[in-house]
Amino acid sequence: MSSTACADTLPCSGHSAQCGPIFVDNYKVFASTERLVIRRFRAQDAEAFAAYRSDPLVARFQSWEAPVPVVEAARQVARFGAGSPSVPGWFQYAIELRSAGALVGDVGVQLHDNLMQAEIGFTLAPAHQGKGYATEAVRAVLDLLFGAGILRVSAECDARNSASARLLDRLGFRREGYRVEHTWIKGEWTDDVLFGLLARDWR
Ligand SMILES: CC(C)(COP(=O)(O)OP(=O)(O)OC[C@H]1O[C@@H](n2cnc3c(N)ncnc32)[C@H](O)[C@@H]1OP(=O)(O)O)[C@@H](O)C(=O)NCCC(=O)NCCS
Repeated sequence: MSSTACADTLPCSGHSAQCGPIFVDNYKVFASTERLVIRRFRAQDAEAFAAYRSDPLVARFQSWEAPVPVVEAARQVARFGAGSPSVPGWFQYAIELRSAGALVGDVGVQLHDNLMQAEIGFTLAPAHQGKGYATEAVRAVLDLLFGAGILRVSAECDARNSASARLLDRLGFRREGYRVEHTWIKGEWTDDVLFGLLARDWR
């Protein structure tokens, strides 16, 4: 499944902290794939966002608590929509399913202060899992990141989160480490698996 980066992402010609990736932010769509649109969040996404983030199974290995009230979702979606993918910190890309014209998930990217590395996370609404959409969306976002000059993308997941680990394996992430009882989440210590992918290993 190929993705097409839109004209709002300009590759950087160099790899220095001064230069960094340049994302031109004037358009709401960042990338299109066969089945998905990767776009900026908008106010109308609040209900769908609240619905999938409120599912206890979706929240199980994540930092937020379910349920997520629509009012809180509206606040978060407004913040995501106003964010910028080109400055250090988290930016959330909305995943829209073309056939439904609706939000089905999100891909979060934390751009490092050095503008050369990033961390990635992803969430898909349960009704749309098991169809390859998350892999397709993350692949498109990785295309954007590596195309913009990012040199390394990291990810980590709870060791019990096998769907997440399979996705990262599929995309070619290297398993780089295992941290025993590293994260306190939802009342227990959990093990983390660490993943990494270098630009030179990205096809
Ligand atoms: C992590 C998460 C996004 C993975 O979702 P997913 O639906 O399993 O991943 P994809 O959308 O890429 O789908 C891949 C699955 O669809 C299957 N599939 C079915 N039809 C397919 C198609 N046409 N194309 C590609 N894959 C297809 C694949 O075989 C694969 O199944 P497998 O993992 O059992 O081998 C999802 O479990 C989730 O949102 N979890 C909650 C949030 C979370 O924990 N996020 C990760 C934090 S680290």
